[in-house]
Amino acid sequence: MKIPFAKVSISGNEYKYLTEVLSSGWLTTSSKALDFEKQFAGYVGAKYACAVNSCTSALHLALEAIGVQSGDKVLVPSLTFTASAEVIRYMGADPLFLDVDYSTGLVTTSILKEALKRNGDIKALILVHYGGQAARMTTPEGDGIIEICRQYNIRVIEDAAHAFPTKHEDQYIGTFGDITCFSFYANKTITTGEGGMLVTDEESVYNRARTMRLHGIDKDIWQRYNTDISSWEYDVVAPGYKYNMPDVNAAIGLAQLEQAEYFRQERQRCAEYYYNELSQIPWIDLPVCMGPLEHHSWHLFPIIILPESKVSRNEFIDQMTDKGIGTSVHYKPLHRMSYYRDTYNLDPDDFPNTEKIWKGLVSLPIYPDLKDTELKYICESIRLILTK
Ligand SMILES: Cc1ncc(COP(=O)(O)O)c(C=O)c1O
Repeated sequence: MKIPFAKVSISGNEYKYLTEVLSSGWLTTSSKALDFEKQFAGYVGAKYACAVNSCTSALHLALEAIGVQSGDKVLVPSLTFTASAEVIRYMGADPLFLDVDYSTGLVTTSILKEALKRNGDIKALILVHYGGQAARMTTPEGDGIIEICRQYNIRVIEDAAHAFPTKHEDQYIGTFGDITCFSFYANKTITTGEGGMLVTDEESVYNRARTMRLHGIDKDIWQRYNTDISSWEYDVVAPGYKYNMPDVNAAIGLAQLEQAEYFRQERQRCAEYYYNELSQIPWIDLPVCMGPLEHHSWHLFPIIILPESKVSRNEFIDQMTDKGIGTSVHYKPLHRMSYYRDTYNLDPDDFPNTEKIWKGLVSLPIYPDLKDTELKYICESIRLILTK
């Protein structure tokens, strides 16, 4: 068998909407992107959505829109992709890296409180919903992550690259923090090839992000090309970026959005299969799902090979590869990446849980097209490798 780690599902209106774009006479940002924004905002229940060419762009625009400046301090977990932290450096600000909970890979309220005891004057938190599970945004006691940040006047940007569609307490991720950023990269839960979405309820943030996503121009100039508007004139109000989402990508996104809940259910099927088949195998820890399975987007299924196992994490990955099974590691933590380690003089001992996680960390395949026969083969292979 050959089982890739990730595989996109194209089973809906992707070709139909793409054909509409290709025959429209205009391939970049226009009505499909606007439609995608509207539908996406409606899905998560946010007031505004701004379609961009990646989640990285969305995170950058988010920090810019809330006025993060050189020398500001921004909290971010170490167990994440570099995009979550590099955008802080784009602004000349400094990341303060957080440990995460061992069983979920998430920043917890106690980790956050501990960090706030040690560091004053924090401008923002970039919060990652690791693997597709929501962090504890709010609690009945009023001491959830959002509530703590409000107390300290810390702006919250949610890195929801893994978390669509994800819920916390029956509410979609997208409306808890000040700004939420989603990824539609090729391996994500819905994809546009490359793409991202910034959502917010704040009109001023939305207006700034929309302007900065297209060169700092004061109006959506693509309207000049395909409407009856004759005005060619525009102003540049800031040195913006080139982050807009072309209609070619938005067409795929619209079709994927229609299937988002079906995709999520199919990934949940994979997760349930893994829980049923792997929970009895010694030498591994499985990811803990805190709430109902239905609230999790199941972007990742990361398992941890325990130190007591005779097979190391790297040997495990090699043997899975020999059996034709693709795996990945999410992530080698940022405190171990040479740039962050050396720039900020980071010590692994300050990240005990992240260290314990990453040394055994392996992500298993999890996607809608993964068949039960393939899941069976993956689970049998894991059992063989770990118990032989
Ligand atoms: C947690 C996290 N944040 C941000 C990103 C960046 O997403 P994009 O590739 O859309 O820029 C990724 C991509 O994998 C990610 O995993």
